[in-house]
Amino acid sequence: MNQPVMAGVAPVNPPPFVKHRKLVDWVADIAALTRPDRIVWCDGSQEEYDRLCAQMVEAGTMTRLNPAKRPNSYLANSDPSDVARVEDRTYICSENAEDAGPTNNWIAPAQMRATLNGLFAGCMRGRTMYVVPFSMGPLGSPIAHIGVELSDSPYVAVNMRIMTRMGRAVYDVLGTDGEFVPCVHSVGAPLDAGQADVRWPCNPTKYIVHYPETREIWSFGSGYGGNALLGKKCFALRIASGMGRDQGWLAEHMLILGVESPDGDKRYVAAAFPSACGKTNFAMLIPPEGLKGWKVTTVGDDIAWIKPGPDGRLVAINPEAGYFGVAPGTNAQTNANCMASLARDVIFTNVALTDDGDVWWEGMTKELPAHLIDWQGQDWTPQIAAETGRKAAHPNARFTVAATSNPVLDEAWDDPNGVPISAFIFGGRRSSTVPLVTEARDWVEGVYMAATMGSETTAAAAGQQGIVRRDPFAMLPFIGYNMSDYFAHWLRIGQQLATSGAAQPKIFCVNWFRTDANGKFVWPGFGDNMRVLKWMLDRIEGRAGGVEHVFGVTPRHADIPWEGLDFSQDMYEMITTIDRAAWEAELKLHDELFDKLRHRLPADMLQVRQALEQRLAGS
Ligand code: GTP
Ligand code: SPV
Ligand code: MN
Repeated sequence: MNQPVMAGVAPVNPPPFVKHRKLVDWVADIAALTRPDRIVWCDGSQEEYDRLCAQMVEAGTMTRLNPAKRPNSYLANSDPSDVARVEDRTYICSENAEDAGPTNNWIAPAQMRATLNGLFAGCMRGRTMYVVPFSMGPLGSPIAHIGVELSDSPYVAVNMRIMTRMGRAVYDVLGTDGEFVPCVHSVGAPLDAGQADVRWPCNPTKYIVHYPETREIWSFGSGYGGNALLGKKCFALRIASGMGRDQGWLAEHMLILGVESPDGDKRYVAAAFPSACGKTNFAMLIPPEGLKGWKVTTVGDDIAWIKPGPDGRLVAINPEAGYFGVAPGTNAQTNANCMASLARDVIFTNVALTDDGDVWWEGMTKELPAHLIDWQGQDWTPQIAAETGRKAAHPNARFTVAATSNPVLDEAWDDPNGVPISAFIFGGRRSSTVPLVTEARDWVEGVYMAATMGSETTAAAAGQQGIVRRDPFAMLPFIGYNMSDYFAHWLRIGQQLATSGAAQPKIFCVNWFRTDANGKFVWPGFGDNMRVLKWMLDRIEGRAGGVEHVFGVTPRHADIPWEGLDFSQDMYEMITTIDRAAWEAELKLHDELFDKLRHRLPADMLQVRQALEQRLAGS
């Protein structure tokens, strides 16, 4: 393919398998703007992955772990200023502010483009620009969508190879004129001739920008996670949620799991919990001894694309191909499946390095290692930790691993037809107020529960932690359009299901995180969440009891299967009681949210709100 040549600009040199003129022209345009020293077209091969990793080891960005302990695995430590998503620097730039809605940061597209053109001008000088083609969803499937990320970070290129279907085969699907979402990413740290690089280049100025109408993503200044791996939150949630609104489907911050009973009945459920609130762990759950014969398998751990299938039922696919999961808290007791997934072929980011070249993080083992190099490269001992409170791993330290490393990967995880969804589960992290599990009486009440969900903030986003905020559908940081319109979209999908005669999935709300007077979690969580999941499945089959109360239906102690767990009625009450004063305060927080969203808020939400208040007053 002919390439434009410009003085001082790296030659574009597309390989012969790239036949897409618009793509080549766009790469040339971005190169002319950002001025990389060279352009590398990624083919997604193992050889390329190994080469880029070796290069990063050489540059000090990555450490190769002891191959006897953790074969083919690496540790990357980021800059301490670049450790999580930056929500206050994330923008939805639609033409009208109202279309981004009151929960999103908004700047007019023309103004944002002017700002970004300034920032991106020459920002890749001294670096390589990687052309990273990827498919969200199985390659060539009718539900998949393609993106191409241009990035000056080799860390991004290797992570994208694990997290998405990345490489040469994407060009075959794209052909000469296929559609793709253009994603431009720079760490924003150009190098002058002869200037030495740093371990983790980034820029204090950060912009994570989405143009939903033209379906473009531009990200500047960060090399970390959702800020930089643009297929994930930027594409598969923020851009895709807008595509879903236009085309009648849903892009959700949800895990998808399969659950099979001892009799061989299999169902799939999707669950939305905010960042670092338990999706990966729930998706890989190991049922407790007492519930022998039950089996949980993983379709996805973070994102679901959900569409009405040929028979009208909702079916879901996982658009990703890997997991970018929270390391701290993961161990062989709480999640043996996850630990097994991490045995080899992993990129760890911001965990600690052991003296024998392996990794460690808080919560991995009961016994603390005598000495570590912490995530910031400093000596760490239990004594230093006790004296200073310094963590060995950053609380948002993560692993990147292929889905195919998961020992309980569902057989349909890669099925382009998706899996049918029987229930939606929503759950926040709440130390008080919200009971262990509640079933919504109908779709609209379920949408209300999801819309008003609150959760304590976590280390997954920069900013203060442990503050309760409303996080509707666990999508507050990820919705690509007006939140009120999104509620309306969910209500519309429910109506469509009712009209088509397809069963509406049941909607449940859970909270694994209620604490006692000492701040300790009362509910054992993890594998024991199977007990709650079983109750939900039994409710779907019409087999389990529960009591109806102000907010919906909650199981009595006797309705939960307790085999093998000593969990007294008293303890159960600690995590299921509904405190009237707490709920009156909670309703005020619903009101605050609805007041913020009032402009396009569906009337149904206010009606459920009124009914709740009346029931609460009469309770
Ligand atoms: P993102 O990848 O940020 O979207 O998070 P996630 O929802 O996948 O959260 P993940 O499963 O990684 O869990 C985050 C943290 O919560 C980890 O430290 C887990 O150990 C902890 N956690 C997960 N499930 C439970 C649970 O049932 N009970 C308790 N107490 N902690 C849990
Ligand atoms: C989240 O924060 O919800 C994540 C991690 O899944 S990141 O990819 O960084 O967004
Ligand atoms: Mn997530």
